[in-house]
Amino acid sequence: MAPLPFSIAFDPRDEEEVMRRWRLVLRSNKWSHGEQLEEFEQEWGAWNGMPAVGFDNWAGAAMAALDFFQVRGQTVLCPSNTFLATPRSAELSGAKVVFYDCNRHDLCASFEDFVAKAEATRPALAFVVHVGGHLAFDIRRIAAYCREKGIRLIEDCAHAVGADWNGQKPGGFGDVGLFSLYATKTISTGEGGVAVTADQDLLKHLRSYRDYGRGSGYRVKSLNHRMDEFRAAFGTVQLRRMPEIVAWKQAYARDVLDPLYPDRVRFPDGMASGYYKYIVFQPISNSTGKVYEQPCHRLMRAETDLPNADWVATNHWCVPLYYPREAQSERI
Ligand SMILES: Cc1ncc(COP(=O)(O)O)c(C=O)c1O
Repeated sequence: MAPLPFSIAFDPRDEEEVMRRWRLVLRSNKWSHGEQLEEFEQEWGAWNGMPAVGFDNWAGAAMAALDFFQVRGQTVLCPSNTFLATPRSAELSGAKVVFYDCNRHDLCASFEDFVAKAEATRPALAFVVHVGGHLAFDIRRIAAYCREKGIRLIEDCAHAVGADWNGQKPGGFGDVGLFSLYATKTISTGEGGVAVTADQDLLKHLRSYRDYGRGSGYRVKSLNHRMDEFRAAFGTVQLRRMPEIVAWKQAYARDVLDPLYPDRVRFPDGMASGYYKYIVFQPISNSTGKVYEQPCHRLMRAETDLPNADWVATNHWCVPLYYPREAQSERI
């Protein structure tokens, strides 16, 4: 079985619909603040089970959420096994970042180290990152702990679109979930981001923050993090195709990859991964590289010992798993 070549997740059957929508936008005289964004947000919210706000990218959504929680001068817990975006957003919001460790088996937040760091540093807020496309196995315990201790919780869902745990979707465990629509993600608009939350005050803040504080009498101090109509139109088309993209990846993982790779991330009962990555703990020649080559506590030179993050960086690999351009049935 030849490894799947890299392919951005886009189904050629959707080209006409994208063009149709883009023509509508072109002729609409409304290239921003329009109906396409409303429709995209409504459909994303319907999938996610709570209201959604479109952004220019994950980073814009993160800065908006962190601004709402007023983290300047506060401690923010952050996993080390993540993209630099996660700790940097907290750092640039004026917070002190404290790193915590991951589990080896899921690459995500370790409940034990999360609690140890929380007890030691009394954070105002914490990030959990759903690394690789599945949900962090400890997310429920961490969310319950945060609720009990009054710690606000942001889920970094950049990889997690399409994931599900007994019907519960990413972003619904903590206070807010932040998705990325960057070019390599499970679904993409080239660049883009989405925040989801059930908190009405936070929702208002997110909408205002992305638009120079509009809607708040300009009390919210921010710049421009809007999603334009072209991107929103594209996003709706991609989102509608997402269940099929994810189902294809899940079937390919189950039927083709799982029998070949026994030493892999194994999900708990009821959890479905969106398969942003297919992660194994055995060296492979055709790896697409690591999810992350270096943990963030190393990149940011934090003086802390996180053995599992270091272990994960050297002991996992990613088997190519991309949604192909051609009709899927011809590929397997
Ligand atoms: C875990 C994680 N968080 C955040 C981001 C940043 O997303 P964006 O590029 O949309 O700002 C990424 C990568 O793109 C990521 O992998």
